[in-house]
Amino acid sequence: VPTGPLKISELPPSRVGTSGESIHLSLVIPTYKERDNIKNVVRILSQLLDESIPGNYELIVVDDDSPDRTWEIAESLTTEYPHLRVMRRQQERGLSSAVIRGWQVGTGSVLGVIDGDLQHPPEVLMELLRSVEQGADLAVASRHVEGGGVSSWSVVRRLLSRGAQLLGLVILPGVLGRVSDPMSGYFMVRRSAIANATLNPVGYKILLEVIGRGNVGEVAEVGYVFCERKEGESKVTWKQYIDYIHHLVRLRLSTGRVGRLSRKVNFPFGRFLRFGLVGFSGVFVDMGVLYLLSDPTTLAWQLTRSKIIAGEIAILNNFLWNDAWTFADVSARQQEWHQRLKRFLKFNAICLGGLVLNVLILNLVFNFLIPNRYIANFIAIAITTIWNFWINLKLSWRV
Ligand code: GDD
Ligand code: MN
Repeated sequence: VPTGPLKISELPPSRVGTSGESIHLSLVIPTYKERDNIKNVVRILSQLLDESIPGNYELIVVDDDSPDRTWEIAESLTTEYPHLRVMRRQQERGLSSAVIRGWQVGTGSVLGVIDGDLQHPPEVLMELLRSVEQGADLAVASRHVEGGGVSSWSVVRRLLSRGAQLLGLVILPGVLGRVSDPMSGYFMVRRSAIANATLNPVGYKILLEVIGRGNVGEVAEVGYVFCERKEGESKVTWKQYIDYIHHLVRLRLSTGRVGRLSRKVNFPFGRFLRFGLVGFSGVFVDMGVLYLLSDPTTLAWQLTRSKIIAGEIAILNNFLWNDAWTFADVSARQQEWHQRLKRFLKFNAICLGGLVLNVLILNLVFNFLIPNRYIANFIAIAITTIWNFWINLKLSWRV
Protein backbone atom coordinates (compact mmCIF):
# COMPACT_ATOMS: atom_id res chain seq x y z
CA VAL A 1 0.00 0.00 0.00
CA PRO A 2 1.65 3.24 -1.13
CA THR A 3 1.77 6.19 1.24
CA GLY A 4 2.83 9.79 0.79
CA PRO A 5 1.50 12.24 -1.77
CA LEU A 6 -1.21 11.08 -4.14
CA LYS A 7 0.94 11.40 -7.17
CA ILE A 8 1.25 9.19 -10.23
CA SER A 9 4.76 8.62 -11.51
CA GLU A 10 5.69 8.37 -15.13
CA LEU A 11 5.81 4.89 -16.63
CA PRO A 12 7.69 2.67 -14.17
CA PRO A 13 11.22 1.77 -15.32
CA SER A 14 10.33 -1.91 -15.41
CA ARG A 15 7.96 -1.25 -18.27
CA VAL A 16 9.76 1.31 -20.38
CA GLY A 17 10.44 -0.18 -23.78
CA THR A 18 8.23 -3.22 -23.28
CA SER A 19 5.05 -4.27 -25.07
CA GLY A 20 5.49 -2.10 -28.14
CA GLU A 21 2.31 -1.82 -30.13
CA SER A 22 -0.28 -3.05 -27.67
CA ILE A 23 -1.35 -0.85 -24.79
CA HIS A 24 -1.00 -2.04 -21.21
CA LEU A 25 -3.99 -1.41 -18.96
CA SER A 26 -4.11 -1.12 -15.17
CA LEU A 27 -7.74 -1.25 -14.17
CA VAL A 28 -8.60 -0.37 -10.59
CA ILE A 29 -11.71 -1.79 -8.92
CA PRO A 30 -12.39 0.14 -5.70
CA THR A 31 -14.45 -1.87 -3.26
CA TYR A 32 -16.09 -1.40 0.06
CA LYS A 33 -18.41 -4.13 1.28
CA GLU A 34 -18.79 -5.86 -2.07
CA ARG A 35 -18.45 -9.46 -0.95
CA ASP A 36 -21.40 -10.59 -3.05
CA ASN A 37 -20.13 -8.86 -6.18
CA ILE A 38 -16.38 -9.16 -6.21
CA LYS A 39 -16.18 -12.66 -7.61
CA ASN A 40 -18.48 -11.95 -10.53
CA VAL A 41 -16.77 -8.68 -11.34
CA VAL A 42 -13.34 -10.26 -11.45
CA ARG A 43 -14.58 -13.21 -13.51
CA ILE A 44 -16.42 -11.10 -16.08
CA LEU A 45 -13.66 -8.55 -16.48
CA SER A 46 -10.94 -11.18 -16.73
CA GLN A 47 -12.83 -13.11 -19.39
CA LEU A 48 -13.37 -9.99 -21.42
CA LEU A 49 -9.78 -8.78 -21.16
CA ASP A 50 -8.29 -12.22 -21.74
CA GLU A 51 -10.13 -12.29 -25.04
CA SER A 52 -9.18 -8.81 -26.13
CA ILE A 53 -5.76 -8.00 -24.70
CA PRO A 54 -4.39 -11.21 -23.18
CA GLY A 55 -1.39 -10.60 -20.98
CA ASN A 56 -1.63 -6.86 -21.39
CA TYR A 57 -3.66 -5.91 -18.39
CA GLU A 58 -3.92 -6.13 -14.64
CA LEU A 59 -6.91 -5.81 -12.34
CA ILE A 60 -6.21 -4.05 -9.07
CA VAL A 61 -8.81 -4.40 -6.34
CA VAL A 62 -8.40 -1.69 -3.73
CA ASP A 63 -10.43 -2.51 -0.67
CA ASP A 64 -10.74 -0.30 2.39
CA ASP A 65 -10.57 -3.12 4.89
CA SER A 66 -14.25 -3.95 4.40
CA PRO A 67 -15.85 -5.45 7.50
CA ASP A 68 -17.45 -8.06 5.25
CA ARG A 69 -13.92 -9.15 4.29
CA THR A 70 -14.20 -8.40 0.59
CA TRP A 71 -10.39 -8.22 0.50
CA GLU A 72 -10.15 -11.79 1.71
CA ILE A 73 -12.38 -13.10 -1.06
CA ALA A 74 -10.45 -11.04 -3.59
CA GLU A 75 -7.14 -12.43 -2.36
CA SER A 76 -8.47 -15.96 -2.65
CA LEU A 77 -9.15 -15.32 -6.34
CA THR A 78 -5.57 -14.42 -7.22
CA THR A 79 -4.52 -18.03 -7.85
CA GLU A 80 -7.26 -18.49 -10.43
CA TYR A 81 -6.71 -15.04 -11.94
CA PRO A 82 -2.99 -14.29 -12.29
CA HIS A 83 -3.66 -10.73 -13.49
CA LEU A 84 -5.45 -9.85 -10.30
CA ARG A 85 -3.76 -7.84 -7.56
CA VAL A 86 -5.35 -6.95 -4.28
CA MET A 87 -4.64 -4.02 -1.99
CA ARG A 88 -6.13 -3.96 1.48
CA ARG A 89 -5.96 -0.48 2.95
CA GLN A 90 -6.09 -0.11 6.69
CA GLN A 91 -4.79 3.43 7.09
CA GLU A 92 -6.55 5.50 4.47
CA ARG A 93 -10.20 5.65 3.52
CA GLY A 94 -12.26 6.96 0.68
CA LEU A 95 -13.12 6.20 -2.92
CA SER A 96 -10.91 8.73 -4.70
CA SER A 97 -7.77 7.98 -2.78
CA ALA A 98 -8.42 4.26 -3.23
CA VAL A 99 -8.40 4.74 -6.98
CA ILE A 100 -5.19 6.74 -6.91
CA ARG A 101 -3.42 4.31 -4.61
CA GLY A 102 -4.37 1.57 -7.03
CA TRP A 103 -2.96 3.50 -9.97
CA GLN A 104 0.21 4.13 -8.04
CA VAL A 105 1.02 0.44 -7.95
CA GLY A 106 -0.18 -0.08 -11.53
CA THR A 107 2.33 -0.62 -14.29
CA GLY A 108 0.09 0.25 -17.25
CA SER A 109 0.46 3.09 -19.69
CA VAL A 110 -3.31 3.40 -19.43
CA LEU A 111 -4.99 3.72 -16.03
CA GLY A 112 -8.64 2.91 -15.60
CA VAL A 113 -11.35 2.58 -13.00
CA ILE A 114 -14.62 0.68 -12.83
CA ASP A 115 -17.05 0.18 -9.93
CA GLY A 116 -17.00 -3.15 -8.18
CA ASP A 117 -20.75 -3.64 -8.09
CA LEU A 118 -21.50 -4.37 -11.77
CA GLN A 119 -23.37 -1.10 -12.20
CA HIS A 120 -20.87 -0.21 -14.90
CA PRO A 121 -21.46 -2.49 -17.90
CA PRO A 122 -18.20 -4.32 -18.73
CA GLU A 123 -19.02 -4.28 -22.47
CA VAL A 124 -18.07 -0.62 -22.60
CA LEU A 125 -14.56 -1.34 -21.41
CA MET A 126 -13.11 -2.19 -24.81
CA GLU A 127 -14.66 0.87 -26.40
CA LEU A 128 -12.98 3.03 -23.79
CA LEU A 129 -9.67 1.37 -24.43
CA ARG A 130 -10.04 1.73 -28.17
CA SER A 131 -10.67 5.45 -27.78
CA VAL A 132 -7.41 5.82 -25.89
CA GLU A 133 -5.59 3.71 -28.45
CA GLN A 134 -6.91 6.02 -31.12
CA GLY A 135 -5.43 9.04 -29.43
CA ALA A 136 -7.70 10.21 -26.61
CA ASP A 137 -5.94 11.13 -23.37
CA LEU A 138 -9.14 10.45 -21.49
CA ALA A 139 -12.07 8.19 -22.34
CA VAL A 140 -15.14 8.55 -20.16
CA ALA A 141 -18.16 6.29 -19.98
CA SER A 142 -21.06 8.71 -19.97
CA ARG A 143 -24.72 8.49 -19.10
CA HIS A 144 -25.39 11.65 -21.04
CA VAL A 145 -24.35 10.89 -24.61
CA GLU A 146 -26.08 8.74 -27.19
CA GLY A 147 -26.50 5.22 -25.93
CA GLY A 148 -26.26 6.39 -22.34
CA GLY A 149 -28.78 6.62 -19.54
CA VAL A 150 -29.81 5.50 -16.10
CA SER A 151 -31.94 2.43 -15.75
CA SER A 152 -34.54 3.47 -13.21
CA TRP A 153 -33.65 6.55 -11.26
CA SER A 154 -36.32 8.56 -9.49
CA VAL A 155 -36.99 12.11 -10.57
CA VAL A 156 -35.45 13.32 -7.31
CA ARG A 157 -32.18 11.50 -7.92
CA ARG A 158 -32.02 12.72 -11.51
CA LEU A 159 -32.60 16.28 -10.34
CA LEU A 160 -29.96 15.99 -7.62
CA SER A 161 -27.48 14.64 -10.14
CA ARG A 162 -28.23 17.41 -12.63
CA GLY A 163 -28.19 20.04 -9.90
CA ALA A 164 -24.73 18.89 -8.87
CA GLN A 165 -23.59 19.11 -12.47
CA LEU A 166 -25.07 22.59 -12.85
CA LEU A 167 -23.34 23.82 -9.72
CA GLY A 168 -20.08 22.42 -11.04
CA LEU A 169 -20.57 24.15 -14.37
CA VAL A 170 -20.95 27.45 -12.59
CA ILE A 171 -17.98 27.02 -10.24
CA LEU A 172 -15.62 25.23 -12.60
CA PRO A 173 -16.82 25.56 -16.20
CA GLY A 174 -13.43 24.66 -17.63
CA VAL A 175 -13.44 21.32 -15.85
CA LEU A 176 -17.09 20.29 -15.82
CA GLY A 177 -17.60 21.67 -19.31
CA ARG A 178 -15.22 19.20 -20.85
CA VAL A 179 -17.30 16.08 -20.34
CA SER A 180 -21.01 15.43 -20.45
CA ASP A 181 -20.89 13.23 -17.35
CA PRO A 182 -18.37 14.69 -14.91
CA MET A 183 -19.71 12.45 -12.13
CA SER A 184 -18.71 9.31 -13.96
CA GLY A 185 -16.57 6.87 -12.05
CA TYR A 186 -15.95 4.75 -15.13
CA PHE A 187 -13.10 5.96 -17.33
CA MET A 188 -9.57 5.45 -18.62
CA VAL A 189 -6.78 7.95 -18.73
CA ARG A 190 -3.38 7.89 -20.34
CA ARG A 191 -0.76 7.76 -17.63
CA SER A 192 1.25 10.54 -19.25
CA ALA A 193 -1.75 12.88 -18.93
CA ILE A 194 -1.73 12.72 -15.14
CA ALA A 195 1.87 11.80 -14.41
CA ASN A 196 3.50 14.10 -11.85
CA ALA A 197 0.29 15.92 -10.96
CA THR A 198 -0.45 15.72 -7.26
CA LEU A 199 -4.05 14.67 -7.00
CA ASN A 200 -5.84 15.84 -3.95
CA PRO A 201 -9.18 14.19 -3.76
CA VAL A 202 -11.88 14.93 -1.30
CA GLY A 203 -14.64 12.42 -1.59
CA TYR A 204 -16.11 10.58 -4.50
CA LYS A 205 -15.45 12.25 -7.82
CA ILE A 206 -11.97 11.38 -8.93
CA LEU A 207 -12.66 12.38 -12.53
CA LEU A 208 -12.79 16.04 -11.52
CA GLU A 209 -9.26 15.79 -10.16
CA VAL A 210 -8.01 14.10 -13.29
CA ILE A 211 -9.41 16.81 -15.56
CA GLY A 212 -8.69 19.68 -13.18
CA ARG A 213 -5.09 18.86 -12.35
CA GLY A 214 -3.99 16.61 -15.16
CA ASN A 215 -2.85 17.65 -18.58
CA VAL A 216 -5.69 16.18 -20.55
CA GLY A 217 -5.85 16.93 -24.26
CA GLU A 218 -8.29 14.97 -26.37
CA VAL A 219 -11.33 13.58 -24.56
CA ALA A 220 -13.60 10.80 -25.83
CA GLU A 221 -16.95 9.71 -24.44
CA VAL A 222 -18.76 6.42 -24.73
CA GLY A 223 -22.43 6.06 -23.80
CA TYR A 224 -23.42 3.58 -21.12
CA VAL A 225 -26.48 2.74 -19.08
CA PHE A 226 -25.91 2.87 -15.33
CA CYS A 227 -27.44 -0.44 -14.22
CA GLU A 228 -29.24 -1.14 -10.99
CA ARG A 229 -27.35 -2.76 -8.18
CA LYS A 230 -28.18 -6.42 -7.67
CA GLU A 231 -26.09 -7.17 -4.59
CA GLY A 232 -24.93 -5.02 -1.70
CA GLU A 233 -25.79 -1.37 -1.33
CA SER A 234 -24.58 2.07 -2.40
CA LYS A 235 -22.31 4.00 -0.07
CA VAL A 236 -23.58 7.38 -1.20
CA THR A 237 -24.99 9.52 1.60
CA TRP A 238 -25.60 13.21 2.10
CA LYS A 239 -21.99 13.52 3.12
CA GLN A 240 -20.97 12.90 -0.49
CA TYR A 241 -22.89 15.96 -1.62
CA ILE A 242 -21.14 18.10 0.96
CA ASP A 243 -17.80 16.58 -0.02
CA TYR A 244 -18.57 17.31 -3.63
CA ILE A 245 -19.14 21.00 -3.01
CA HIS A 246 -16.03 21.13 -0.85
CA HIS A 247 -14.16 19.46 -3.68
CA LEU A 248 -15.35 21.94 -6.30
CA VAL A 249 -14.40 24.92 -4.18
CA ARG A 250 -11.04 23.45 -3.35
CA LEU A 251 -10.21 22.72 -6.98
CA ARG A 252 -11.33 26.16 -7.95
CA LEU A 253 -9.18 27.84 -5.32
CA SER A 254 -6.10 25.73 -5.75
CA THR A 255 -5.98 25.88 -9.52
CA GLY A 256 -6.80 29.58 -9.27
CA ARG A 257 -8.90 29.44 -12.37
CA VAL A 258 -12.20 28.18 -13.62
CA GLY A 259 -10.32 25.32 -15.16
CA ARG A 260 -8.25 25.14 -18.26
CA LEU A 261 -10.67 27.11 -20.36
CA SER A 262 -7.93 28.82 -22.27
CA ARG A 263 -6.31 25.70 -23.61
CA LYS A 264 -8.64 23.07 -24.95
CA VAL A 265 -12.14 24.40 -24.55
CA ASN A 266 -12.43 27.10 -27.13
CA PHE A 267 -15.34 29.36 -26.40
CA PRO A 268 -17.79 28.83 -29.26
CA PHE A 269 -18.11 32.43 -30.37
CA GLY A 270 -20.08 31.60 -33.52
CA ARG A 271 -22.74 29.84 -31.55
CA PHE A 272 -22.79 32.53 -28.92
CA LEU A 273 -23.37 35.16 -31.56
CA ARG A 274 -26.26 33.21 -33.06
CA PHE A 275 -27.65 32.58 -29.60
CA GLY A 276 -27.46 36.31 -28.86
CA LEU A 277 -29.22 37.22 -32.11
CA VAL A 278 -31.96 34.71 -31.41
CA GLY A 279 -32.33 36.18 -27.93
CA PHE A 280 -32.68 39.60 -29.50
CA SER A 281 -35.44 38.34 -31.79
CA GLY A 282 -37.21 37.11 -28.67
CA VAL A 283 -37.47 40.66 -27.39
CA PHE A 284 -39.60 41.60 -30.38
CA VAL A 285 -41.77 38.52 -30.09
CA ASP A 286 -42.28 39.28 -26.42
CA MET A 287 -43.13 42.93 -27.13
CA GLY A 288 -45.45 42.01 -30.02
CA VAL A 289 -47.42 39.46 -28.05
CA LEU A 290 -47.58 41.76 -25.05
CA TYR A 291 -49.06 44.41 -27.31
CA LEU A 292 -51.60 42.04 -28.87
CA LEU A 293 -52.78 40.76 -25.52
CA SER A 294 -52.63 43.71 -23.16
CA ASP A 295 -52.97 46.89 -25.19
CA PRO A 296 -56.25 48.74 -24.55
CA THR A 297 -56.78 48.95 -28.31
CA THR A 298 -56.45 45.17 -28.75
CA LEU A 299 -57.43 42.46 -26.24
CA ALA A 300 -56.80 44.57 -23.12
CA TRP A 301 -55.93 41.60 -20.92
CA GLN A 302 -54.46 42.04 -17.50
CA LEU A 303 -50.75 42.92 -17.66
CA THR A 304 -49.23 40.08 -15.61
CA ARG A 305 -51.15 37.38 -17.41
CA SER A 306 -50.26 38.89 -20.77
CA LYS A 307 -46.61 39.13 -19.86
CA ILE A 308 -46.42 35.48 -18.74
CA ILE A 309 -47.86 34.34 -22.04
CA ALA A 310 -45.69 36.75 -24.01
CA GLY A 311 -42.59 35.56 -22.19
CA GLU A 312 -43.42 31.91 -22.77
CA ILE A 313 -44.04 32.47 -26.47
CA ALA A 314 -40.74 34.31 -26.71
CA ILE A 315 -39.03 31.33 -25.05
CA LEU A 316 -40.67 29.02 -27.59
CA ASN A 317 -39.57 31.32 -30.42
CA ASN A 318 -36.01 31.32 -29.14
CA PHE A 319 -36.00 27.59 -28.71
CA LEU A 320 -37.17 26.94 -32.26
CA TRP A 321 -34.53 29.25 -33.74
CA ASN A 322 -31.77 27.92 -31.54
CA ASP A 323 -32.70 24.35 -32.34
CA ALA A 324 -32.88 25.01 -36.06
CA TRP A 325 -29.97 27.41 -36.35
CA THR A 326 -27.65 27.88 -33.35
CA PHE A 327 -27.46 24.16 -32.66
CA ALA A 328 -28.48 22.85 -36.08
CA ASP A 329 -25.74 20.23 -36.02
CA VAL A 330 -27.05 18.73 -32.79
CA SER A 331 -30.72 18.72 -33.73
CA ALA A 332 -29.91 17.12 -37.08
CA ARG A 333 -28.61 14.14 -35.14
CA GLN A 334 -31.53 14.02 -32.71
CA GLN A 335 -34.67 14.74 -34.65
CA GLU A 336 -37.23 12.61 -32.93
CA TRP A 337 -40.06 14.56 -31.39
CA HIS A 338 -39.44 13.31 -27.85
CA GLN A 339 -35.81 14.41 -28.12
CA ARG A 340 -36.91 17.86 -29.27
CA LEU A 341 -39.47 18.04 -26.51
CA LYS A 342 -36.84 17.14 -23.93
CA ARG A 343 -34.55 19.88 -25.24
CA PHE A 344 -37.39 22.34 -25.14
CA LEU A 345 -38.30 21.50 -21.55
CA LYS A 346 -34.69 21.87 -20.45
CA PHE A 347 -34.32 25.12 -22.36
CA ASN A 348 -37.47 26.39 -20.74
CA ALA A 349 -36.34 25.48 -17.24
CA ILE A 350 -32.90 26.97 -17.75
CA CYS A 351 -34.35 30.22 -19.13
CA LEU A 352 -36.69 30.49 -16.15
CA GLY A 353 -33.67 29.95 -13.90
CA GLY A 354 -32.02 32.71 -15.91
CA LEU A 355 -34.91 35.02 -15.19
CA VAL A 356 -34.49 34.51 -11.46
CA LEU A 357 -30.77 35.14 -11.86
CA ASN A 358 -31.53 38.28 -13.83
CA VAL A 359 -33.66 39.71 -11.05
CA LEU A 360 -31.06 38.83 -8.43
CA ILE A 361 -28.16 40.37 -10.31
CA LEU A 362 -30.17 43.47 -11.15
CA ASN A 363 -30.86 44.01 -7.45
CA LEU A 364 -27.29 43.32 -6.40
CA VAL A 365 -25.71 45.59 -8.98
CA PHE A 366 -28.26 48.35 -8.48
CA ASN A 367 -28.02 48.35 -4.68
CA PHE A 368 -24.31 47.80 -4.22
CA LEU A 369 -22.46 48.81 -7.37
CA ILE A 370 -24.10 51.14 -9.83
CA PRO A 371 -27.18 53.06 -8.76
CA ASN A 372 -28.43 53.37 -12.31
CA ARG A 373 -31.18 50.91 -13.08
CA TYR A 374 -30.58 50.76 -16.82
CA ILE A 375 -26.86 50.15 -16.58
CA ALA A 376 -27.52 47.65 -13.81
CA ASN A 377 -30.11 45.92 -15.96
CA PHE A 378 -27.75 45.86 -18.91
CA ILE A 379 -25.12 44.09 -16.79
CA ALA A 380 -27.74 41.69 -15.46
CA ILE A 381 -28.91 40.87 -18.98
CA ALA A 382 -25.35 40.32 -20.20
CA ILE A 383 -24.53 37.92 -17.39
CA THR A 384 -27.84 36.10 -17.75
CA THR A 385 -27.29 35.67 -21.49
CA ILE A 386 -23.93 34.03 -20.87
CA TRP A 387 -25.52 31.81 -18.23
CA ASN A 388 -28.37 30.84 -20.54
CA PHE A 389 -26.00 30.15 -23.37
CA TRP A 390 -23.46 28.13 -21.46
CA ILE A 391 -25.88 26.03 -19.44
CA ASN A 392 -28.06 25.31 -22.46
CA LEU A 393 -24.98 24.45 -24.49
CA LYS A 394 -23.99 21.88 -21.91
CA LEU A 395 -27.33 20.53 -20.74
CA SER A 396 -29.91 21.03 -23.49
CA TRP A 397 -27.88 20.55 -26.65
CA ARG A 398 -24.92 18.94 -24.92
CA VAL A 399 -22.20 20.27 -27.12
N1 GDD B 1 -12.03 1.37 -1.59
C1 GDD B 1 -13.19 2.01 -1.46
N2 GDD B 1 -13.35 2.92 -0.45
N3 GDD B 1 -14.19 1.77 -2.32
C2 GDD B 1 -15.36 2.43 -2.17
C3 GDD B 1 -15.58 3.35 -1.13
C4 GDD B 1 -14.50 3.62 -0.25
O1 GDD B 1 -14.60 4.41 0.68
N4 GDD B 1 -16.86 3.83 -1.26
C5 GDD B 1 -17.39 3.21 -2.32
N5 GDD B 1 -16.51 2.36 -2.87
C6 GDD B 1 -16.70 1.50 -4.04
C7 GDD B 1 -17.94 0.65 -4.02
O2 GDD B 1 -17.69 -0.59 -3.41
C8 GDD B 1 -18.25 0.53 -5.50
O3 GDD B 1 -17.48 -0.49 -6.09
C9 GDD B 1 -17.81 1.86 -6.06
O4 GDD B 1 -16.85 2.37 -5.15
C10 GDD B 1 -18.98 2.85 -6.24
O5 GDD B 1 -19.63 3.05 -5.01
P1 GDD B 1 -21.22 3.09 -4.87
O6 GDD B 1 -21.54 3.34 -3.46
O7 GDD B 1 -21.79 1.85 -5.49
O8 GDD B 1 -21.59 4.39 -5.72
P2 GDD B 1 -22.82 4.65 -6.73
O9 GDD B 1 -23.42 3.37 -7.15
O10 GDD B 1 -23.68 5.66 -6.13
O11 GDD B 1 -22.09 5.26 -8.02
C11 GDD B 1 -21.82 6.64 -8.20
O12 GDD B 1 -20.51 6.86 -7.96
C12 GDD B 1 -19.68 6.10 -8.83
C13 GDD B 1 -18.27 6.28 -8.41
O13 GDD B 1 -17.89 7.62 -8.57
C14 GDD B 1 -22.10 7.07 -9.64
O14 GDD B 1 -21.87 8.48 -9.71
C15 GDD B 1 -21.25 6.33 -10.63
O15 GDD B 1 -21.37 6.84 -11.93
C16 GDD B 1 -19.85 6.46 -10.26
O16 GDD B 1 -19.14 5.60 -11.08
MN1 MN C 1 -22.77 1.50 -7.20
